[in-house]
Amino acid sequence: MNPYLKLLKPYPFEQLNALLADVKPAVGHDFITLALGEPKHPAPDFIIEQYLQRSSVIAGFGTYPPTRGIVELRTAIADFVNRRFKLAASPIDPASQVLPVTGSREALFAFAQTVIDSTQDSYTLMPNPFYQIYEGAALLAGSRPVYIPCTAATDYLPDFDQVTTEQWEKCALLYLCTPGNPTGAVASIEQMQDLIRLSDKFNFVIASDECYSEIYADEQTPPPGLLEAACAMGRHDYKNCVAFNSLSKRSNLPGLRSGYVCGDAAIIEAFLLYRTYHGSAMAVHNQWASVAAWSDEQHVIANREIYRQKYIAVSDILGAVWPMNQPTASFYLWPETPVGDEQFTRRLIEKANIKVLPGSYLSRVANGSNPGENRVRLALVATIDECVIAAERLRGFMQGKDYI
Ligand SMILES: Cc1ncc(COP(=O)(O)O)c(C=O)c1O
Repeated sequence: MNPYLKLLKPYPFEQLNALLADVKPAVGHDFITLALGEPKHPAPDFIIEQYLQRSSVIAGFGTYPPTRGIVELRTAIADFVNRRFKLAASPIDPASQVLPVTGSREALFAFAQTVIDSTQDSYTLMPNPFYQIYEGAALLAGSRPVYIPCTAATDYLPDFDQVTTEQWEKCALLYLCTPGNPTGAVASIEQMQDLIRLSDKFNFVIASDECYSEIYADEQTPPPGLLEAACAMGRHDYKNCVAFNSLSKRSNLPGLRSGYVCGDAAIIEAFLLYRTYHGSAMAVHNQWASVAAWSDEQHVIANREIYRQKYIAVSDILGAVWPMNQPTASFYLWPETPVGDEQFTRRLIEKANIKVLPGSYLSRVANGSNPGENRVRLALVATIDECVIAAERLRGFMQGKDYI
């Protein structure tokens, strides 16, 4: 057996199932889950039509998909990235700087196998709290995770001042998550440029997970991306910079398994080599559906608007009894709990039949503290009506101090 497998921690939802196994849900309330970050808005009709177009599906079933992706998809992704992240000064080349992937999760995981030299002692830096795939990817690639706290003191962005020189020197890979899950915090262009300068100094790769980049609060202020920061500092080859994104949140297509990796051509080439053996090419009919999704913005604008309405409705109901930060982006809320996050989560099922995710399941103890402790993550993925019902029940739960 691979000895690194023993290092893997249970996934947050396994922990949650164990926590709630013996809890009796409140009688008289329909079950509502705010635990899972799975978009529940319907997939756009025009993408389903594109998907079901007979000729593309028949052609797809009868063809081994190219790992590199069909040229039309690489072009649609490059057009999106160039437009969205303002890369006119050094546009992404669809031939050498883009790869389609079957969702950002598998790509974020497999990427570590490509860029980490497991014969060397190395660190992989990641936010804390985090998307747990980063940790598993680092461990299975033979690298040691370094958890960088994201707390209110640094506006929920990773506090890179806490990274020691030794950690920078041995850093092989840095995972950035912007907008962040679960905090919704967005790194600025300047912060990303600082990281790029550090990657030059200490020679590490930056993997920027941007899968929430299209869910943001202010229509006039889209979150910047790593490639945008690189381009703005005249880094035309995007050296050491790779961005990951996906149609799961942007287009409500988590089941399509479609995303991209984009940036430094030398890294993309190595990743393509890895993926050829990995056998993770996207089915051709899924590639055609993805072309349609990356090429349209109207459905994404409409999608954002629904999230905005949900944030307003929920904060109107909860604001007075459970104050919480309204994130710049993402579809999460990350409030503090008046009691331990596990107790809060259990009592919430018992009293209100609402499922949330304890914050400590998304984070690790580092430097003596755990930034997820006494917080829960709420994902506003359900319909607006369901989110309103959940918020009203939560208001009663908080007012009645039912968490005790
Ligand atoms: C931060 C983050 N990155 C990546 C993913 C993976 O998404 P997908 O594989 O659907 O692109 C998720 C899914 O919830 C996520 O929260």
